Amino acid sequence: MPDDTRRPKLLITAGPTHEPIDAVRYIANRSSGRVGIALADAGARRGWGVTLLLGPVAREPLHTHVRPLRFTTAADLRELLLEHAPTCDALVMAAAVADFTPRSPDLSGKMTRMGGMKSLELVPTPDLLAEVAAGRRPGQIIVGFALEPAGRLLESARDKLRRKGADAIVANPLGTLDADTIDATIVPAIGPEERFGPLEKTAFAERLLDWIESRRSPPGCADRA
Ligand code: CTP
Repeated sequence: MPDDTRRPKLLITAGPTHEPIDAVRYIANRSSGRVGIALADAGARRGWGVTLLLGPVAREPLHTHVRPLRFTTAADLRELLLEHAPTCDALVMAAAVADFTPRSPDLSGKMTRMGGMKSLELVPTPDLLAEVAAGRRPGQIIVGFALEPAGRLLESARDKLRRKGADAIVANPLGTLDADTIDATIVPAIGPEERFGPLEKTAFAERLLDWIESRRSPPGCADRA
């Protein structure tokens, strides 16, 4: 294991967010957290310092050197990112963050059927990736993910790359959700686009870490202020 001052610090977000409607119901998505967990385990096997911000999924990292911290909502994840992003060397935002959250959830009660149909007022969540990228330190590498219909996969990923200010977006077709394999294309801000797949998610995790390692310059000497 490299000493703590030299090993890269990797921060990963994974899994869905749950946005509460009332004390028992929430809005969610089908993200399994598998890619993010595979990345965390792969990083720990390389001796990197890995913190995994993990949403409400049953899976957990296998490697004992991964530090998992749990979140439920997009707001929880934002708090964790504000605390941990400033000191990482690389951030991989694999979490499927809800785009909208109920405006006024009643966390002390439960909506009933009485009174008929109710409508739910939603408000947008902040774009966490864009927020972290806007406040990044020099030398930090920031990678986002995009799950898109195959027909506009790369076009949407390139658009998100520009909008969010990341170093790369990993573009995935919709079939990736909760599958064992991934057919991903890394769309970087600088350099050629590279397709990896179809691959097991664990094998893809190694390729993405290789890509991150190739962007750290010179190797092992990222800013650790
Ligand atoms: N993301 C984020 N904060 C959000 C929504 C998404 O940080 N509120 C991150 C995700 O973790 C992912 C990337 O942004 O790394 C792309 O997520 P996606 O949901 O595809 O992007 P959106 O901005 O929601 O784009 P759109 O709804 O227009 O597809």
